[in-house]
Amino acid sequence: MTETPKNTKKLYVKTYGCQMNVYDSERMVEALGGQGYEETKTPDDADMILLNTCHIREKAAEKVYSELGRFKGLKAANPDLKIGVAGCVAQAEGEEIIRRQPMVDLVVGPQSYHRLPAMEQAVGEGRKALDTEFPDDDKFDTLRKRAKTKRGPTAFLTVQEGCDKFCAFCVVPYTRGAEVSRPADRIIREAQELVEAGVKEITLLGQNVNAYHGHDGGLAGLIWALDKVDGLERIRFTTSHPNDMDDALIEAHGTCDKLMPYLHLPVQSGSNSILKAMNRKHTRDEYFRLIERIRAARPDLLLSGDFIVGFPGETEADFEDTMDLIREVHYGQAYSFKYSTRPGTPAAEKPQLPDDVMDDRLQRLQTLLRDQQRATQDAMVGRTVKVLFEKAGREAGQMIGKSEYLHAVFAPCEDVAVGDLREVEVTTSATNSLGGRLV
Ligand code: 5AD
Ligand code: SF4
Repeated sequence: MTETPKNTKKLYVKTYGCQMNVYDSERMVEALGGQGYEETKTPDDADMILLNTCHIREKAAEKVYSELGRFKGLKAANPDLKIGVAGCVAQAEGEEIIRRQPMVDLVVGPQSYHRLPAMEQAVGEGRKALDTEFPDDDKFDTLRKRAKTKRGPTAFLTVQEGCDKFCAFCVVPYTRGAEVSRPADRIIREAQELVEAGVKEITLLGQNVNAYHGHDGGLAGLIWALDKVDGLERIRFTTSHPNDMDDALIEAHGTCDKLMPYLHLPVQSGSNSILKAMNRKHTRDEYFRLIERIRAARPDLLLSGDFIVGFPGETEADFEDTMDLIREVHYGQAYSFKYSTRPGTPAAEKPQLPDDVMDDRLQRLQTLLRDQQRATQDAMVGRTVKVLFEKAGREAGQMIGKSEYLHAVFAPCEDVAVGDLREVEVTTSATNSLGGRLV
C-alpha cells in the first residue's frame, strides 16, 4: 500500500478586512499546500505566519506592526519561523514593512500571491522576498486547482478585482488596482469544483462586482450561466456600485430562483453635495429611483448598505439628508463608518471634521440603522424561510444556518445535516439572529 504524502509544515493565517481577503487567504493556504504546508489555528506551533491585511481605514498599518510585535517571542524561540505580510497593507507599505520590522521575511501584494511558493522557497534559502507588482500573468491561472476535499456548504468566489471608480475617500483603486474581470469559463469551472466538494451556495466577490464584464450580459450573464450548474442552490454577490446595477441584473433578481433576495448596495451618503464631493457620480434621487426598480423586480429583497459619516465638508444638514435617505429606503442590514483619512486619496487634502462631531453623528446613524435592522428581523416572525444549515449551534440539539435574506437562523436539529436546505418557520427574533422550528 502506498502512503499519501503528508503535509508536515504548519501555516497560520490571520485574515483582516473584507470577504475578498477571506477568499485570498484560502487560495494562499492552497498555494502553500504545494510547499508542504497545512493550516493551523494557532501561531504557537506555526512554521510560517501570514497576516492578510486590510488598508481601508486608518491605523491599519499600525495595527499590523503591533500584531507583528506579538510574534517576536515566537521568532526568537524558532529562528526558522517564516513571517509574511500579504494583502492591501503589504501593497501600500511594500519594503517599508521589512525596514520597520526586520523579522518579516516576505511581503506580498493581493495581485501577486500566486508567486508565494517561489517566495517561500527564497525565504527558505535565507533571502527576503518582496512582490507588490501588478503582474500581467493571471494569478488565478497560476494558482493550484481548488482542493477536492469536502468543504462547508457556502463559499466565496472572486470574479472581479480592483476598482476604477475613484471615490474620493477610498484607497482600493490604489491598493487593488484597475478593474479586472476573470474569464467566465474559469469561474464556472471553479464553481463546479466547489459544488463537487459540497458547496451549495456561492457568493461572487468583487470590489465592484456588478461591473463584471467577463461574460455576455455582464454579471447577470454570469449569474444565469451559474444558474445552470447542477447542485448549486444559491447565488449571492457583493459589493455593488449603484451605477453598475443594469437592467438585466435588476431583472435577474425577479426571475432567477437561485439568486437570493439580498443586495448590498452602498450609497455612503444621502446628501447630493457630499455625493458629488465623494465622486460617487449619482444623486440621491437616482438612488431612490434605482431602489424602486429593484424592489419592483423583487419586493421582498433585503437591502444592505455602507455609510460614511463626517466626510470633509459634511454639514449637519448634509448628515440629516443621510438620515432621511435611510428612513426613506429602510435597510435590513448596514455597515457604517466614521470618515477616515487615507493618505494619497483626494479627500485627504481637505479640512477634516472634529472627532466629536463625527462620533455624535455615527451614534445617531447607528441607532437608526440598528432599529431598522431589528424591525426587519422582527417582521420575519411568523414567516417561513428556507435555511441552508451550516453548523451546530451553541446550545445542544441546535443547528444554525442562513435564510434567503442572510439572517442567521437557529432551529432544533433532529435529522438535519450540515448542507441541508430546510424550511423553517420563524418563531423568535433576537439581536442578531432568528429562532425557528422545522416545517
Ligand atoms: N473612511 C471611512 N470609511 C471608508 N470606507 C472606504 N473608505 C473609507 C474611509 N476612508 C467604507 C465605505 C466602503 C466600505 C467598504 O468601507 O463605506 O463601502
Ligand atoms: Fe472604493 Fe468607491 Fe471603488 Fe467602492 S466604488 S472600492 S468605495 S473607490
